[in-house]
Amino acid sequence: MTDYKTIIYEAASKVLPTIERDDVTASDAFCDYCVPCFKLAKVLRKAPAAIAAEAAEKLKIDGIEVAALNGYLNFTIARESVVKDVFTSPLGSYKPLAGKTVCIDYSSVNIAKPFHIGHLMTTVIGGALYKIYRALGANAVGINHLGDFGTQFGGLISAFRRWGNEKALEERGLDELLELYVRYNKEAENDTALAGEAREWSNKIEQGDAYAVGLFEKFKSITLEQAKAVYDRLNIEFDSYLGESFYVDKVAAAEDKLRAKNLLKISDGAEIVELSDGDDMPPALIRRSDGASLYIARDLAAAYYRRETYGFDKCMYVVASHQALHFKQLFKVLELLGEPWAKDMVHVSYGMVSVEGMALSTRHGNVLFLSDVLNAAVEKALAIIEERNPELSDKAAVAESVGVGAVVFDALYDGRVKDKNFSLADALNFDGETGPYVQYTYARCKSVLAKAGDAAGEFDYSSLTDDAAYDAVKLLSDFDEAVYNAAVKYEPSIVSRRLVKICQAFNRFYNADRIMCGGKTQNARLALTARVAETLKYGLGLVLLDAPERM
Ligand code: ARG
Repeated sequence: MTDYKTIIYEAASKVLPTIERDDVTASDAFCDYCVPCFKLAKVLRKAPAAIAAEAAEKLKIDGIEVAALNGYLNFTIARESVVKDVFTSPLGSYKPLAGKTVCIDYSSVNIAKPFHIGHLMTTVIGGALYKIYRALGANAVGINHLGDFGTQFGGLISAFRRWGNEKALEERGLDELLELYVRYNKEAENDTALAGEAREWSNKIEQGDAYAVGLFEKFKSITLEQAKAVYDRLNIEFDSYLGESFYVDKVAAAEDKLRAKNLLKISDGAEIVELSDGDDMPPALIRRSDGASLYIARDLAAAYYRRETYGFDKCMYVVASHQALHFKQLFKVLELLGEPWAKDMVHVSYGMVSVEGMALSTRHGNVLFLSDVLNAAVEKALAIIEERNPELSDKAAVAESVGVGAVVFDALYDGRVKDKNFSLADALNFDGETGPYVQYTYARCKSVLAKAGDAAGEFDYSSLTDDAAYDAVKLLSDFDEAVYNAAVKYEPSIVSRRLVKICQAFNRFYNADRIMCGGKTQNARLALTARVAETLKYGLGLVLLDAPERM
């Protein structure tokens, strides 16, 4: 794609020497790009309108119309050039992040805990960023930093020995573990011996006792099996499943680094790093007085491990906003250690999630299972499909793609910092700004193309310059830039919102311009339909959705 922004910036900076590249902004109101001249008024001691008018007078750029309006310098690119650009640039060929390595820590489930609705955001935001970074050429490393360390596993072993058995575990898997865990917590309130027993088992796990480790590994594989089933449905991938337990014996090396810089203090027998200098942050607790390492210590060891293993340019943590302090502390400790890469650490945070009208499972400790939410969505999707298209051949598979896709798309549609309240009915509205709407528009494009038969044939770029066609073309022309913005802002919603806009523009075009009108114009309109379809499929993949061919 031609980089119009740079072309305009370079030309404009000759007549307005003080502007920066980002003063050239995309606009959809009166032009394609504009430069507001208000900031320049002070420097040049002239009215913005006069600055814009004089600059417009002097500026000549091939194929770009320049005009002054109300203190703005407006640039309009010849429509035909934009059309040509789209059809001569293969989709997905923009690789501005080639050669960069990014680590993305997401989902990071806890062993023997349910995969509940609270994990949805980290899983899909991280999973989508993984796809987006890869699409832009980066070497993305997807990391599931498992919560597989802590005294609770000792508790689980004692609960298993008291009330559980192999057979039930085999048959009921995670359900059995969750019930044991809930029961353990309840009974531990009155039975103090239980806590001591739990500590013993947790020590045994650490010491490598074969029986204890064997059971723990069993718990781990049960949890992961269930998590992986969810990942499959959500199109989520990982490159590493190294969890917290992997870093326990690597904390010592991190402590050595802290000691060498005189950062490790002893307070009440515990090891801490003071972070308060002006920032008013509580100290980071590295090791408790009983010798146990803490969460942040394992994250510190993990940060070094990732840096040494992958040499990342960026290391992201997709974790809820309630862990903001934890990451602020972690990054500060790295900064105090003098690591130049401390600035490349990013906490990609997000708000709380709730779901309208679905009951929590009290048996499992008042949580809503993600798989239950997905199943409910799939069931609703199937009912809608039965009604809309009873003849469809592979209804169950399409309902799975549409139901799961509706939940994921909805999760990725708003800016991630906002709290989110789901409504399955809204997420599944085929006419709303939803996953099913995008999937349906894709299927509609495919059906137009199927009816038209094979390749579109030759066409003139000028056939797609009418308003309806051109609106769609414009949205395709800077699709790459939208994907890039999504990456650098860690905001997959930029992609999902763009997809909805493309669908809206395509549907307007479909209603305004008859596609099967014959001749070269028909070829052009079919080519546009094909490019829209291709972009929707590609974009849906970036935000983790399938694109069924028929719906
Ligand atoms: N397992 C943690 C939780 O569920 C999230 C871990 C996030 N990643 C990290 N490197 N701390 O709260």
